Amino acid sequence: CGIVGFVGKEIKIEDLITGLKKLEYRGYDSAGIAYNNGSKIEIEKKEGKIEVLEQHLHEIMKKDIKSGLAHTRWATHGAVSDINSHPHSGQKDEIAIVHNGIIENYQELKDELQKSGVKFKSETDTEVIAQVLEREYNGDLFDTVRKAVKLFEGAYAIGVMHKDDPNTIIAARKGSPMVIANNGKVSILASDVTPILKYSRKVVFLDDGEIVRLKPDGYKIYNLENEEIQKEIIDITWDETLAEKGGYDHFMEKEINEQPQSIKSALAGRIENGYPTIKELDSIKDFIKNDLEKIYIVACGTSYHAGYSMKYFVEAYSNINISLEVASEFRYMNPHVDDKTLVIAVSQSGETIDTLEGIRLAKQKGAHVLAMSNVVGSTIPRESHSVVYMNTGPEIGVAATKTYTAQISILYAIAAQIMNWKGYYTEEVKKIISELELIPDIYKEILSKKDHILELAREYTHYKHMMFIGRGFGYTASLEGALKLKEISYINANGYQAGELKHGPIALLDESFPVFAIVPFNGLREKMISNIMEVKARKARVIAISTKGDEKIKKITNEYIEVPKTSEAISPLTVAPVTQLFAYYVAILRNLDPDKPRNLAKSVTVE
Ligand code: G6P
Repeated sequence: CGIVGFVGKEIKIEDLITGLKKLEYRGYDSAGIAYNNGSKIEIEKKEGKIEVLEQHLHEIMKKDIKSGLAHTRWATHGAVSDINSHPHSGQKDEIAIVHNGIIENYQELKDELQKSGVKFKSETDTEVIAQVLEREYNGDLFDTVRKAVKLFEGAYAIGVMHKDDPNTIIAARKGSPMVIANNGKVSILASDVTPILKYSRKVVFLDDGEIVRLKPDGYKIYNLENEEIQKEIIDITWDETLAEKGGYDHFMEKEINEQPQSIKSALAGRIENGYPTIKELDSIKDFIKNDLEKIYIVACGTSYHAGYSMKYFVEAYSNINISLEVASEFRYMNPHVDDKTLVIAVSQSGETIDTLEGIRLAKQKGAHVLAMSNVVGSTIPRESHSVVYMNTGPEIGVAATKTYTAQISILYAIAAQIMNWKGYYTEEVKKIISELELIPDIYKEILSKKDHILELAREYTHYKHMMFIGRGFGYTASLEGALKLKEISYINANGYQAGELKHGPIALLDESFPVFAIVPFNGLREKMISNIMEVKARKARVIAISTKGDEKIKKITNEYIEVPKTSEAISPLTVAPVTQLFAYYVAILRNLDPDKPRNLAKSVTVE
């Protein structure tokens, strides 16, 4: 979910909507606002994307308000409906609240409130917060919220207002992100910096257990013991226009096309003459050289797939093992992590709660935690011992594209640094690392052939299922190719190790089930050829992604997309733009919005 709120001078309803649109990637099944123009709180909320709310509000968009809160929802408790949308209020409609997170003990609190006669309007856990706050209200909203939040278990970032105090908003955080700023006239709170940049570049990231009183002329931050806290003000340097479409139809299209540049930025200063130079790792050089025994990579979704490539890279060229774990499993599996373990947390947003809880566990067990994220100041980097930022600029499309390829590139540089310090820096590793620097040019070449991929997508748009197969690095690429396609086109697509085909998935294949085969130009190519023949024998069509000039593959497959020849370890990077573009074109040919796929959100701050 995404939250934005303002209190101050010269604010209009449209400011809430403009701010909310910047956060739409965080959820978009319903949206709502609450505002106070002096005497009472009005709430307007609508099921559907923000445009639905915007149309509903069109007559009052220019209306001046003293304070307002807005919310875009990704449903957890309670179906998608007008009534379950945020903001929520208590039964006397005196308090309005927006919430991101999950209150785990909401049922107990709700039972208690219902017993005392409170009537609930919605099915949400958030309404419980509103009802508790209204019950506990003692004339001082800050004091009420500070005391009441102690009753809530689970995660929250909340913004609260009271009808009698139009010049105040209270915000509090535990587990879900919240950023605040003030420019002398208006105070702003938001789930990330993007809605804030229009007003101020100097922001404060709240930490868990902090609560803020926002007023038009400034804000004060306290802990739950009511002690005021001074926090570092962070200067946001990136340009707001990076978060705009820049002439493309969709953010996803823009972000795919940006990759020659984003990889360059991600690697800037991190590779020199075939050697990694990641200065963020300098402080753990001794730890890596002398103490490091185990490495875990913990991540979700696309970030997990980027981690897969790193695991294969390190294990192929050294004796170092990497355990790769999906974060939501890692945190409940008793991972064998200790003070000789490096845990690499890969998270584009830096806010994914599963990954965050994973690193908290790893820290408790004594591990050194290295975060890799694209969002400066986000929670995972702040809670980690070391951080490598991706420097790719904001990614708005919900399906990760440019951050995936930046993640692989930087993870390879990190891998190379570790292998170097551990004594495994062979000529082969050096060659691979040097090839990383060629990726921007390779991408320009691949992207220049996008019309071919569009034509291909046209042929395959009507299929209900597709499979992606590969071996080795081709397997890691197939996982991400399949995820991209299913995320935005809703075609049932899965990635398999090509060798596993015969152990189950082959039963699915017939002429209605095309297979993408990712075929590197190396020893595994022959094995892949056998697998392609097995697929063809089941009458399934085969689309090969292979290396330039591979006439044999071209001959035996129905479709053939070539990518420049590189070391095999680099192939997840060369394959990525092809599978990204394929997924993108299939989605738009199916009239779907690739930037906002149903049921997904870019940053998932609930378990
Ligand atoms: C969500 C997004 C995915 C993303 C995953 C991990 O599920 O829809 O695209 O890969 O979260 O996100 P992170 O920000 O931790 O990389």
